[in-house]
Amino acid sequence: MNKSSHPVVPDFNPFSAAYRDDPYQFVAQAHAAAPVFYDPNLGAFVLTKYDDVMEALRDSETFSSKAINGWTPIPPDLYDDVPDLRPDQSTAVMTLDPPDHAAKRQPMQRALTPKLVNALRPKAAAIANELIDSFIDRGECDLVNDFAYLYSGRTIAVFLGFPEEEATKFRHWSLARLNTLVARPLDAPGEISGQEFQFTDEQLHGFWKSVGEANMSLRHYILARQKKPEEDMISAMLAVKDENGRALYEVGEIVRAVFTLIAGGQETTANLIANIATLLTKEPAQQALLTGNLSLVPKAVVEGLRRKTSAVGIVRRTTRDVEVRGVKIPKESIVYVSLPGANMDPDMFEDPGRYDILRGNAGKNVGFGAGRHVCAGKSLAQLEAEVAIDALYRRIPNLKVDLSISREFSTTFTAPALKSLRATWQTT
Ligand code: HEM
Repeated sequence: MNKSSHPVVPDFNPFSAAYRDDPYQFVAQAHAAAPVFYDPNLGAFVLTKYDDVMEALRDSETFSSKAINGWTPIPPDLYDDVPDLRPDQSTAVMTLDPPDHAAKRQPMQRALTPKLVNALRPKAAAIANELIDSFIDRGECDLVNDFAYLYSGRTIAVFLGFPEEEATKFRHWSLARLNTLVARPLDAPGEISGQEFQFTDEQLHGFWKSVGEANMSLRHYILARQKKPEEDMISAMLAVKDENGRALYEVGEIVRAVFTLIAGGQETTANLIANIATLLTKEPAQQALLTGNLSLVPKAVVEGLRRKTSAVGIVRRTTRDVEVRGVKIPKESIVYVSLPGANMDPDMFEDPGRYDILRGNAGKNVGFGAGRHVCAGKSLAQLEAEVAIDALYRRIPNLKVDLSISREFSTTFTAPALKSLRATWQTT
């Protein structure tokens, strides 16, 4: 069977505003019509069932991560300004297969210890409360820009060991970095729609310049920690020794790891917080349940990850011919693994469109992915979201997202993020 004879699901379009806002009806359509299908817009086979998604994410030999495999070339005049994040040095951990993958992931994994993550809780709560203080008397705020972004940026800064003021630059740096990524396979036959990622040389120059600024700034703080270690992640990475007692990771390696954490962690976490607030407004009974018993916050977060994770799709590339649910996927095909598909599979989650904070098996969700690439920062993201939701609903139990304003998302391919989100409450 060639691609043109595969089933298609015409309305399924992860780039559309409606899909970004809520993929539920689109994945439900796919589940009913064709749970595995070829999408000509994506140039990819789409997997939407929980079991298929898990299988693909666990079988990295067949479903390779070498799908998005490059960066745009660095402008020659900026070469020396980017000592550690040049295309030849900085293959992203998400795009690697074994054995290279483990080597890249290790520096982050070894330093992201539960002890370090848990130690962040009081500081994260202080940041959340300080931000809430700045707007609580107004009776309204932009939950994304006045709260979630600032909060997730500042908590990551503290966790890593940067001054909190530096966090204001993270968003700009991350966007610049993302824009230098080639978001489609360079040599694969099936193309992922790339139009939205095309930039002029001038724009690319600007992005690389920002990446250079980030590189120098990160280097500066890492070198400072080398002289004076503290209780933070950078110090923890610097302290990892090889069997001869020498530092295992050189400074450039730590720059790359830290940038990956900033780029992978700020927007996704901010977006999860905003998504949970939206879900609670849409389901007032759940909000009442939560505000009546704040010990349910961790459940509200896990169910939020299931019902609306920040990551909508993961891209893989097949290394051999494979058959999924009777659909033949040839070698060298691009596969789009739908996390909302898995998280709202009715065979796995009863009444999957409902946000239900008491759901018994919400923990089985794949909002953080699965397999060897499972989110490296998931414990940090979960803690951040729990602290933020607890502080928000403890202090503003009647917070409501303004659902009358249409929600706009960034064009980021795998994790589109809300641009803003107005919220209001009574201030008696
Ligand atoms: C709610 C917030 C977050 C969500 C929904 C999320 C989601 C994901 C997903 C789905 C993946 C798997 C990608 C793949 O299989 O190709 C992933 C990987 C990753 N995430 Fe997260 N993430 C979040 C927060 C964070 C945070 C806070 C950090 C770090 C501070 C982080 C760092 C990473 C890294 C480094 C990887 C790559 C792991 C690898 O390829 O081995 N993420 N994330």
